[in-house]
Amino acid sequence: MSDKRNLNVCLSPELFHLFSEGKKIVVVVDVLRATSVISTAFHYGIKDVIAVESLEAAARYKGKENCIVAAERNAEALDGFDYGNSPFQYMNDEIKGKTLVLTTTNGTRAINMAKQHVVIISSFVNFKEVYNFIKNREEDVLIFCSGWKGNFNMEDSLFAGKLAEKLLNSDNFQSNCDSVLAAISLYKSAENDLFLYLENSAHRNRLKHLNMEPDTRFCLSPTFESDIVPILKDGKLIRHEK
Ligand code: MLT
Repeated sequence: MSDKRNLNVCLSPELFHLFSEGKKIVVVVDVLRATSVISTAFHYGIKDVIAVESLEAAARYKGKENCIVAAERNAEALDGFDYGNSPFQYMNDEIKGKTLVLTTTNGTRAINMAKQHVVIISSFVNFKEVYNFIKNREEDVLIFCSGWKGNFNMEDSLFAGKLAEKLLNSDNFQSNCDSVLAAISLYKSAENDLFLYLENSAHRNRLKHLNMEPDTRFCLSPTFESDIVPILKDGKLIRHEK
């Protein structure tokens, strides 16, 4: 019996039930844009994040003291909420020490689907820190791609490939999951220019048509690196204390 830890990649929430037994580290990724936003908000000093699935649940926090209530559907910000889901909106001092209540099309759903596990939030913003966090633990790992409305998406799978490759190269992990192989091979084809590689991908084009290409560029090549790993504790994402 190998003492290596198991590594898996779940390419879509529709497949999550195949990986959900036991208690493992679930690395939730929604590169465009929910987990990039959450990583950015922590970098700019948000206290904690409550990820909710429905607009109604988010709306219940409106007007609550020290709360920012943010919502996105189909990549668009919604009227009646403080913020949308663009990382640039969170790059300010106003958010310092506040609670962010966030609902998005895919990312916040994935976070809630995985809540019985050790859930951490990953993006290219905090990639290195996520890797270090995982290295210093013992559980098996599942990289969970948020996808798009249950479908596979390219950007999350690319991220999963980059992280999976680094973990397998650390020699602490083993995998007999073809999703891991597929994600790594996808990343290897794209690693020189992720933005160009995603030229024809669905969500990059959705954001393009909404004049949000700067968001895509930032989420794929962040202008800063965060040393914070958001982790789910008692229903809230808080910064993991090293
Ligand atoms: C999501 O959760 O579906 C995404 O973050 C969508 C987006 O805001 O681009």
